[in-house]
Amino acid sequence: ANYEYIIVAQPEPRVALITLNRPKALNALCSPLFNELNKALADLDADDGVGAVVLTGSEKAFAAGADIKEMKDKEYSDTFKNRFLEEWGAIGKLRKPIIAAVSGYALGGGCELALMCDIILASPTAKFGQPEINLGTIPGGGGSQRLAHAIGKSRTMEMVLTGRHVSAQEAEKWGMVSRVVGEGEGEVVKEAIEMAKTIASKGQIAVQAAKEVVNAAYELNLAEGLRFERRLFHGMFATKDQKEGMAAFFGKEKARVYPF
Ligand code: HXC
Repeated sequence: ANYEYIIVAQPEPRVALITLNRPKALNALCSPLFNELNKALADLDADDGVGAVVLTGSEKAFAAGADIKEMKDKEYSDTFKNRFLEEWGAIGKLRKPIIAAVSGYALGGGCELALMCDIILASPTAKFGQPEINLGTIPGGGGSQRLAHAIGKSRTMEMVLTGRHVSAQEAEKWGMVSRVVGEGEGEVVKEAIEMAKTIASKGQIAVQAAKEVVNAAYELNLAEGLRFERRLFHGMFATKDQKEGMAAFFGKEKARVYPF
């Protein structure tokens, strides 16, 4: 498909790369951009040739937030009637792992978009923030909830109530990102592609089940989560990957992996 605000590529076999491409507005997430992103992700999720997705922006900005121009004159009744931002929920329903490779600003909806991904890698230039408070509003794309899960109450309150930008190093210390990669242009995308390649080389039923159970930890209580994990674990014994994987261990061979 041909898109206006994003670029979709396949830099390695089984790895897709989506680059947000609205440089004039620092990748502000206007509705058409978000619809394109959802469409591209749904297509990749359905594509058996793809095992993992990397999502990135530019060196200057992963995304500077929802589009303030688009929101400025909205009324409550419009947002209610038109289910404003409901489409932002679609990313959470995808089965394939998504890695956010963040350079520069990840603010407001941009920070929330990164938090919707499964893994975040940060360039040393990354700056995370929820500056909505400076616009007289609050996070609306899940920031208050996902940050509270990721970094706890005090730090979330600080970010959401002051709007302060948090550096990559701080975000790493707080456990918001997996790690900060080395300096150098494109480094964070390179590392994310390497990680995606590793994930895409594994048995895909196990990968997608693993993503589902980890996500359950954010939705279910512990007893339900443990039961759900065990059930999916039992289900793995119905897969060829488990048979191959465990037999290969004793044959001292590399397991053959079955795509679907
Ligand atoms: C629309 C935006 C934008 C945004 C930047 N631009 N952020 N347009 N929505 N969120 C546009 C600017 O208007 C400007 O356009 C161009 O991008 C470059 O931005 P500058 O401000 O000139 O760049 P700079 O001085 O380098 O400052 C970068 C910045 C600043 C610190 C990131 O742009 C900024 O503070 N942006 C807003 C961040 C923010 O408040 N995000 C939260 C949005 S609310 P022109 O035409 O002048 O060149 C939100 C709600 C989420 O996300 C809830 C639902 C998901």
